[in-house]
Amino acid sequence: MYNLQRPRRNRKNHGIRSLVQETKLNVDDLVLPLFVQEGKNTNTPITSLPGCSRLTLDLLIEAVKEASSFGIKSVALFPVISESLKDSKATEGKNEKSLFAETIRCLKAEVPEMVLMTDVAMDPYSSDGHDGYVQDGEIMNDITLEILGEMALTQAAAGTDFIAPSDMMDGRIGYLREVLDENGFSNTGIMAYSAKYASALYGPFRDALDSAPKMGDKKTYQMDPANTIEGIREVMLDIDEGADIVMIKPALAYLDVIQKVKELSTVPVAAYHVSGEYAMIKAAAEKGWLDEELAMMELTTSIKRAGADIIFTYYALDIAKKLSKK
Ligand code: PBG
Repeated sequence: MYNLQRPRRNRKNHGIRSLVQETKLNVDDLVLPLFVQEGKNTNTPITSLPGCSRLTLDLLIEAVKEASSFGIKSVALFPVISESLKDSKATEGKNEKSLFAETIRCLKAEVPEMVLMTDVAMDPYSSDGHDGYVQDGEIMNDITLEILGEMALTQAAAGTDFIAPSDMMDGRIGYLREVLDENGFSNTGIMAYSAKYASALYGPFRDALDSAPKMGDKKTYQMDPANTIEGIREVMLDIDEGADIVMIKPALAYLDVIQKVKELSTVPVAAYHVSGEYAMIKAAAEKGWLDEELAMMELTTSIKRAGADIIFTYYALDIAKKLSKK
């Protein structure tokens, strides 16, 4: 049979497939999220996030050194705060002697080449488990901005490279940029969680931090999963307000949003392969229902193919190890 078009010629062997491969996942694309907890020499596995742990600072430093040795350039840090330190105004978030501030200072001293992205949001520190200040059941936007501003200054003073506001309050990027600049931190970047959806896929993360909302949900600030244009609006506002990097979160269920944002964005686009997306692969792999390594590479590559320049994933170290073996 005569067949002029035979696309399979370009798939004939590994060498040809490598030559024609359109999307290449690179270790430079990856950001590894890590959780830090109080104490010494303690690794507390997170049941719903297999392979991830809450680490005390000494062990966290080792983990960051290991990540660096495999070529990972950046880590996203989240603090586990004991219930006794939580209050309605997330006061611990601005404490210059807090675990988180200490963690930033130590990591910058011990592993200076590692780019730090540090979470700015009330929920790890809030007795209400919300990303905003709660008054009579309402999430108060502008009071929250002031709290976030103080938190951002503490992290900037401790030496973070990027503050990463994940709260979804209105106007926070512009506000935080101004606060940073006015206080001499014009070189501290902002990695904005711009299009962050009210997703069911954050469950394991909230287990990790014990940060689930005590009442209600996050739908008055995080976005409706059904909306695309609104996500673009959020991204554009954040770019106008001074974001250095914008993020879409979650990643896999929002590849269409990533693609659209990439077409329009004038700053690098990040995507967060979130805890629930990771846990789904882990759970199916544990049951023997799929090949974990293949699924990990396929799904994270799809996030890059959609247009993400930067991928936050709990698989970052596994991917880095795999890529270093090739
Ligand atoms: C909250 C925050 C969340 C995540 C990152 N920052 C959870 C939430 O919004 O409730 C989720 C990350 C993940 O699920 O991996 N500021």
